[in-house]
Amino acid sequence: MDVGIFHNYEFPRSERLSIQTMESALTARDRVGVQDFVLLENFTSETAFIENLRKRSSERLIYTYIGSVLVSVNPYRPLNIYTAYHQEKYQGVNFYEMPPHVYAISDNVYRSMRNENKDHCILISGESGSGKTEASKYILQYLSVCSSNNDKVEHIKNRLLQSNPVLEAFGNAKTHRNDNSSRFGKYMDVQFDYRGAPVGGHILNYLLEKSRVVHQAQGERNFHIFYQFLEGADDETLRRMQLKRNPNDYAYLSGGKCARVPSINDKKDFQTVKNALKVVDFPEEDSLFSIVSSVLHLGNVCFDDSGGKATISNDTMSHVRIVAVLLDCKCDQLVTALTHRTIEANREKMCSPLNRDQAMYARDALSKAIYGRMFDWLINKINGSLDLKGQSRRNLIGLLDIYGFEIFQRNSFEQFCINFCNEKLQQLFIRLTLKQEQEEYEAEGIAWEPVEYFNNQIICDLVEQRHKGIVDILDEECLRPGDPTDLTFLKKLEETVGKHPHFVTHSLADPKVRKTMQYDEFRLQHYAGEVTYSVEGFLDKNNDLLFRDLKETMSDAGNAVLKETFLKAEVTSLKRPETVGSQFRSSLNKLMEILMSKEPSYVRCIKPNDTKQADKFDDSLVRHQVKYLGLMENLRVRRAGFAYRRTHEIFVKRYKSLCPDTWPNYRGSTREGVQVLCSYLDYKEDEYRIGKTKIFIRFPRTLFATEDAFQARKHELAAMMQATWRGYWQWKKYQRMREAVTKISAHWRRILAQRLKEKRKTGAQAIRKFIIGFMNRGRARCPENAHFLDFVRISYLQRCKNKLPTSVLDKSWPRPPAALIETAKLLETMNMQNMVRKYVKQMTPERKIVMEEKVLASSLFKDKKESYGESLRRPFAEKRLNEPMKPKMMSMIEAGEKVMYACSVLKYDRHGYHARPRVLAVTSKSNYLFDAKDGKLKQKIAHESLTGLSVSSLSDDLLVLQAPAENKEKGDMIVTNDYSIEAATKIAIISGKPDLVKVVGRNMQHDMAGGKKGEIEFAAGQENSITKAKNGNLIVISRSR
Ligand SMILES: Nc1ncnc2c1ncn2[C@@H]1O[C@H](COP(=O)(O)OP(=O)(O)OP(=O)(O)O)[C@@H](O)[C@H]1O
Ligand SMILES: [Mg+2]
Repeated sequence: MDVGIFHNYEFPRSERLSIQTMESALTARDRVGVQDFVLLENFTSETAFIENLRKRSSERLIYTYIGSVLVSVNPYRPLNIYTAYHQEKYQGVNFYEMPPHVYAISDNVYRSMRNENKDHCILISGESGSGKTEASKYILQYLSVCSSNNDKVEHIKNRLLQSNPVLEAFGNAKTHRNDNSSRFGKYMDVQFDYRGAPVGGHILNYLLEKSRVVHQAQGERNFHIFYQFLEGADDETLRRMQLKRNPNDYAYLSGGKCARVPSINDKKDFQTVKNALKVVDFPEEDSLFSIVSSVLHLGNVCFDDSGGKATISNDTMSHVRIVAVLLDCKCDQLVTALTHRTIEANREKMCSPLNRDQAMYARDALSKAIYGRMFDWLINKINGSLDLKGQSRRNLIGLLDIYGFEIFQRNSFEQFCINFCNEKLQQLFIRLTLKQEQEEYEAEGIAWEPVEYFNNQIICDLVEQRHKGIVDILDEECLRPGDPTDLTFLKKLEETVGKHPHFVTHSLADPKVRKTMQYDEFRLQHYAGEVTYSVEGFLDKNNDLLFRDLKETMSDAGNAVLKETFLKAEVTSLKRPETVGSQFRSSLNKLMEILMSKEPSYVRCIKPNDTKQADKFDDSLVRHQVKYLGLMENLRVRRAGFAYRRTHEIFVKRYKSLCPDTWPNYRGSTREGVQVLCSYLDYKEDEYRIGKTKIFIRFPRTLFATEDAFQARKHELAAMMQATWRGYWQWKKYQRMREAVTKISAHWRRILAQRLKEKRKTGAQAIRKFIIGFMNRGRARCPENAHFLDFVRISYLQRCKNKLPTSVLDKSWPRPPAALIETAKLLETMNMQNMVRKYVKQMTPERKIVMEEKVLASSLFKDKKESYGESLRRPFAEKRLNEPMKPKMMSMIEAGEKVMYACSVLKYDRHGYHARPRVLAVTSKSNYLFDAKDGKLKQKIAHESLTGLSVSSLSDDLLVLQAPAENKEKGDMIVTNDYSIEAATKIAIISGKPDLVKVVGRNMQHDMAGGKKGEIEFAAGQENSITKAKNGNLIVISRSR
């Protein structure tokens, strides 16, 4: 952002500077030049000055300060910096807080006026087309916006603003330099009441360029109002005024040959003027336009020459008649006045005819006079409408929009007056600036260092001094009897002021200078440079002569405006009218008094090029203006002593971080703080002074070095602050989080506690209910025990579900509660059935056979033989052989028979119960007993001859295959192995005689060969053994299981 400069150079009010402002201004200095020329290091260099202006205006930064002076470069394009937004932005802020702006000056002036109860003025100067009038309009606009409002105020604001279009229509014209050039100087007071609301206004005007009414240079126009009236007035009005629309029909409008200008819309402007006239309250509008029209008609009046006497040409006589009608005067009288001149000498009136040239001069003089007086009247009227009307004013702000220094190719009386005016303003500027400077030094207790400057008092004196000045010499020459001419005036000048160092003429100059001058010229060495004036027309212009006859005619006229401007007294008065020069001098002196009594602010306008082009910066043209506006002098005066000053507080506050003793705060007085800081920063003796309230720094470079150090330090500080802030922020975050966590956990704990409480409560209730249910469990179902019973049932069923027997052999079943005994039985049965069904379903035919064998075994041995349980675990097999059956054995088996079961056994023979290893093979028909070693068939018992298959009830494995005695050549077959139950069952099945199986008690008899009987005793013992007892019995002892 572009920022305002912070320089608090001149006005005490600028002490209100804020620290941020300075910062931005100092840091912005490298980007778009300096925003205050005071900070320009090379302040004596015009080139550096212009370069800074150029740089800034190329960035469209048209405003730059020289301290409190605003330098404005005409952008020649609408800029978006005058919006309501900007008007608001600048309100009430410090002068230097914002980018340089005409609003900043306006606001500063307005606030100071209100706060300090002082009158102020803003002096706007600059070349034609440099933007003075625009600036004054922006200021007025700003003043009307920033002040308070009510209906009455609104009314006066409106009038103040609307006075502008009226004044511009009558006082502005298109010139080469400016399409809307003000052809008069204007000083406008805006009066404010105690609340700061505008309550009135007053305008003073200076030196209207009346010559423009009758003559314009090529490419220039007469005052706008003529063209506006012809373009914009309705047909009826024009008819009444007997005018035609075309401006080229009028001699006074066609001279410049550019009646129509593309940039100007006369028709629209006329409407604006009409509206403004209404606001400003003008009942005499008709009389006003009658005069405008009369001037146009007068311009068309031509004269013939008859023997040295002028007569009005016949074909233009009509114009005179129309003028007479419009001005309401007698036509004859007007005709005579235009062609004759009455001179009163020795109380005798003599009327002499005018020659043609004189008549033309008289006509033009009349036109100029009535237009000029109408303009003065207009200003008076506006003043009347802006009058306070009984309201009391407290303070005022004056706006001076006045011509700047002018140098043309040929400079005449007007330029002389204008440049004189600028000399006076420069004088005022120097006096006020130095005065303020000195006052501040004194107030601060600093030794006054004299400022070297050029005091232009000497030039002012040359122009205005009584009797010895140019104005008085001109007046004297005008009054002198005899035949004064412009050249005699020049001679008189040479005689009177010829020795003045700032004055030179052609004849006084040394040969070198003489070459640059004409013989009818004099040259003044103005503060802003040399200007050569041609004396031609000086006397006439100073006299501004209107012949008495014309004055009389006008004072007799009925036109309302003329009545008030041409007073009878003027005609009868013998007093010579004041000359233009002395009038101007006295009005200037009055103006100086007015300005001296106020706090001044300055706006210096510069035009960047002569072609009204945006973005064109003509260095030499600007250099010219910088010189003529005295800007370098201006800067020099301001920089003569100390470039820069600020209060102790502000200085310490800003730079305290640069010194350990002042950071973060200095404990002692701020004045000491400043001293400590300066010593630490190693300021040299002549670089600074410490005043009572301010520190003064002589060179910008000292300040910039400090500022640069501060900028560097700022980064460190910023990092530090950032770190601190981040730390703080994190800490805050942590605090917040911790609080949140505490809160959440507290809530959560509460919820958990509540839940636990609920749980316990329901638990306690459940337990109570359970106990009551338990106590009442014996009763029929009732509310007290219903839940308990349900619970018991459900839990039993669930228990059942989880503990269901998974094997048909598993006979366990959870013990049911009383209420569910029946159900449990049913369930158990169902479960068993289900398991059996599943078991059966998944059974293979082989397994089925095995199963059937097992079932048979069960029916034969269960609960009968001790070793039955053990046999259960072992599935039956088809073969239980130590080694495969020998082929010999197989060959012994009868054809067609198949071994269906075979096992290795020990056979106890009949003779001594010796145990012999044998193989028992069971076929579909017989049981074969082979010698295990040689495979011989030892015994064969057909199934059909089997009479018993006996085993003991104990856990031994003795099996006795019994056969009837007749077949017993070998007796019963007593065998043993580990699978007696399997063998017995297999044989029973294969033989189809399960009934043969017998489980005997403690002993049994068996047949032996030869019809003998043997006895087998079974007994339980420690070890298994089969032995022959002494009594000849076979003793079978088995371990009890
Ligand atoms: N701030 C501005 N922004 C835009 N255009 C501007 C600005 N100032 C001036 N101009 C342009 O420059 C023209 C001339 O400005 P202005 O009439 O204010 O000059 P002046 O200094 O009053 O000249 P004169 O002495 O002839 O009256 C304006 O009509 C406008 O087009
Ligand atoms: Mg102007």
